[in-house]
Amino acid sequence: MISLANSNFFVILTLFCSQTCINFSSVGAITSLRPGDVLNNSQALDSEGGKFRLGFFSIPQTNKTYLGKWYADDRRERKLWIANPNTPILNNSGFLTIDTTGTLKITSGEETVVNIAPPLLTGSLIARLQDSGNFVLQDETRNATLWQSFDHPTNCLLPGMKLGYNLTTRRNWSLTSWLSFSVPASGAFTLSLEDIQDAFQLVIRRRGKVYWTRGAWNNQGFPFLPFSHNSATNNEVTNIYQYNLNLVSDKDGMFFQYDTSQGSFPSLALNSHGDILGGYSFIYTLFRDFCYGYEREDGCVTTQLPDCRKDGDKFERKSGDFIHTSSITTEFYDDASISSVDCMQKCWERCSCVGFTTTSGNGTGCRIWNGNRDFRVDESGNAVQRYVLVSPKSSKEKPWIWIVIAIAILITLLISGFICYIIMRRRKLQDKKRKEEEHIRELTAAASFNNTNLKGEDGREVQDLKIFSFGFISTATNNFSSENKLGQGGFGPVYKGKFPDGREVAVKRLSRTSGQGLVEFKNELILIAKVQHTNLVRVIGCCIHEDEKMLIYEYMPNKSLDVFLFDPARKELLDWQKRCEIIEGIAQGLLYLHRYSRMRVIHRDLKASNVLLDENMNPKIADFGLARIFKQNETEAVTSRVVGTYGYMAPEFAMEGAFSIKSDVFSFGVLMLEIVSGRRNTSLQQDGRSLNLIGYAWELWKEGCALELKDPSLGDLCNTQQLLRVVHVGLLCVQEGSTDRPTMSDVISMLGNESMPLPIAKQPAFFTGRDEAGSYSSTIKTERCSVNDCSISVVEAR
Ligand SMILES: *[C@@H]1O[C@H](CO)[C@@H](O)[C@H](O)[C@H]1NC(C)=O
Ligand SMILES: *[C@@H]1O[C@H](CO)[C@@H](O)[C@H](O)[C@H]1NC(C)=O
Ligand SMILES: *[C@@H]1O[C@H](CO)[C@@H](O)[C@H](O)[C@H]1NC(C)=O
Ligand SMILES: *[C@@H]1O[C@H](CO)[C@@H](O)[C@H](O)[C@H]1NC(C)=O
Ligand SMILES: *[C@@H]1O[C@H](CO)[C@@H](O)[C@H](O)[C@H]1NC(C)=O
Ligand SMILES: *[C@@H]1O[C@H](CO)[C@@H](O)[C@H](O)[C@H]1NC(C)=O
Ligand SMILES: *[C@@H]1O[C@H](CO)[C@@H](O)[C@H](O)[C@H]1NC(C)=O
Repeated sequence: MISLANSNFFVILTLFCSQTCINFSSVGAITSLRPGDVLNNSQALDSEGGKFRLGFFSIPQTNKTYLGKWYADDRRERKLWIANPNTPILNNSGFLTIDTTGTLKITSGEETVVNIAPPLLTGSLIARLQDSGNFVLQDETRNATLWQSFDHPTNCLLPGMKLGYNLTTRRNWSLTSWLSFSVPASGAFTLSLEDIQDAFQLVIRRRGKVYWTRGAWNNQGFPFLPFSHNSATNNEVTNIYQYNLNLVSDKDGMFFQYDTSQGSFPSLALNSHGDILGGYSFIYTLFRDFCYGYEREDGCVTTQLPDCRKDGDKFERKSGDFIHTSSITTEFYDDASISSVDCMQKCWERCSCVGFTTTSGNGTGCRIWNGNRDFRVDESGNAVQRYVLVSPKSSKEKPWIWIVIAIAILITLLISGFICYIIMRRRKLQDKKRKEEEHIRELTAAASFNNTNLKGEDGREVQDLKIFSFGFISTATNNFSSENKLGQGGFGPVYKGKFPDGREVAVKRLSRTSGQGLVEFKNELILIAKVQHTNLVRVIGCCIHEDEKMLIYEYMPNKSLDVFLFDPARKELLDWQKRCEIIEGIAQGLLYLHRYSRMRVIHRDLKASNVLLDENMNPKIADFGLARIFKQNETEAVTSRVVGTYGYMAPEFAMEGAFSIKSDVFSFGVLMLEIVSGRRNTSLQQDGRSLNLIGYAWELWKEGCALELKDPSLGDLCNTQQLLRVVHVGLLCVQEGSTDRPTMSDVISMLGNESMPLPIAKQPAFFTGRDEAGSYSSTIKTERCSVNDCSISVVEAR
């Protein structure tokens, strides 16, 4: 028997008269049955020669029991005839008996399930299974057959059986398919011998309508059936059936019979798909799955197609499912008398239908899909199969194959290339890792790294400084992607990073130009890491990768001061109070750098974009100490390489490369003027000529109109006194002579103590256009100034 688990609706090849059936082992074989005898479900009736066997069997998919007949030696016990196809026994206790009225019947419990033959009241009834496979009911004394199963074929034609009809006896011998592979009830198809256009033809009808017919009788047989040749030349293949056909016809009717010389267990069967099968596995009908009605060479009968279907449309079995969208709907027909071919017909005739399937495990019921044809194929093996409507492609099949081959080759190449790449990459990575490891060993070996704590895989904590692996940082910054880039600072690009714990950081990738050795770098880093103040951006750690160095800072969500200060919309957010706080904060941070940090740090690149703002808009100075890393051999004197930003650089620094804490004070002064005015030092267009902010402020100051400098967006809501004081201090900070400039602690006390008298500001650096500026201001600005009511206190202050 075919393995039970594998009994698949679609395995047509293996379908025979039946399949997958459990048989109750024949304990005691009997050869005949007389009135009063009972054949129970563990017994079997054998033919005299033992060729055929009759008995009860159950079908696993439905648990229904039938009385059937099969070849005794056929291990699969394919059913050749069934006594009660439409009236199964619902449990497995059935009895075959001839009762006192002479009725051959099947009972279960006390009830009659079905009468197999009508009552035959004669003296000595006997039921036998003949060696032809014919189950007969005979009158033993008269030696007359009263009833025979050959006159009541189900889906199988055995040698000696008739297919045809006799109008006199009103007998019709035709085959009726099972409903499905596991339901023997009458199905959609019949096979009959018919006289069409004066020719004898075998005809398959579906639900009464002609479905398939192929070739008329030609004196020897039907063209689709292999028939015996008298010449015994090509008889080597033994298991191929060769049919001797015999057709009889007269005015009463006609029939044909056959016998075969070759092959075991001969039979001709009509399966639930409408195929004619020979014996075990020969399919004589050439259509696959279904006939659609358009012209084909396979015997399918041409019919009118539904308007929406065209030649070549067909259903294919595919594993997977329709993609469920709003545009696809399904309909169920839970009718147990519907089989797959009925379901196909429903779908075929429904124009919106794109696929169907049967719904129950026994191969009945129907579900159809309406909508679009998006079908997701799933070859995983657990997917169910559906019939999916496919339309023929206009392109030929050959190019297709070539495309497939080309793709396959391409994929193979890609895969092998990829594998090579992986191997190379791994090698390279290992190299890199070793190198990195060395770096870190070198780092940790240095004196101040002695109390190294190893901390997880993400970073090694070295006192206050964590050393992160390159991979970790690379992942955190999404491989230094451009989306993560926050900006380009003086010392290299800055990226936003996100650690696995959700912490956000800023990663500064130092440009590789620093010619520093690793130990120096490390020392510098440790110093930087120790510089901690609320107004300084905190350094979390660093990362060293080959000759690349990175610093990891805390992340400031509000970006930098210039983003707010020089943006017409955002500057509104900075009211006077806030600006004062920012100035104060920067001053405190700078003071700490200059005075109170363990090392005296000169920032050297203080500017608005280096002042970051935290979520409360508190200023934090970034990039301090970097100049030290980038310095070469100089101490606090002269640097050959000037770092800094034009417009913020003190003159002595810009021109001679000399720097001191006073150069930071200069930058701070510029920053103060920018904060007050909301304008950049560099990009100032004044009356058609360019003038830097310092020069402009100085002119206004001289004119006594310093209030003009006020950022218009501050409106009237500002403390005029305080503003003028800030401008004054700012101008003090940008004086040409560095000794004239105040220190940061002076600046803080000047700003904090309103009553403290301020020195008179001398001419600032970079004020070049004195003459023209003078002429301009004397004419235009004094006029404008008079409109303002601001000048009094300015004059006083001077
Ligand atoms: C079937 O009949 C035989 C012989 O009468 C008997 O031995 C056997 O137990 C019966 N089996 C069942 C299931 O009734
Ligand atoms: C087949 O299955 C369906 C649904 O499970 C059921 O309604 C029907 O009775 C079954 N048919 C047979 C013959 O068991
Ligand atoms: C058939 O019977 C077996 C055992 O009683 C049971 O496990 C199985 O579910 C039944 N199958 C059906 C289709 O009723
Ligand atoms: C089988 O079913 C019939 C009725 O359908 C009942 O009379 C009989 O007792 C049942 N037998 C078993 C063994 O369940
Ligand atoms: C019964 O009839 C058959 C043919 O119908 C014949 O072959 C057989 O010999 C007969 N048996 C007896 C005992 O007459
Ligand atoms: C018997 O078959 C013939 C020819 O196929 C048909 O015309 C007739 O209706 C059938 N009769 C019965 C009772 O099935
Ligand atoms: C039909 O049956 C009658 C009566 O049995 C018989 O004489 C005739 O030969 C049969 N014809 C065919 C074609 O079976």
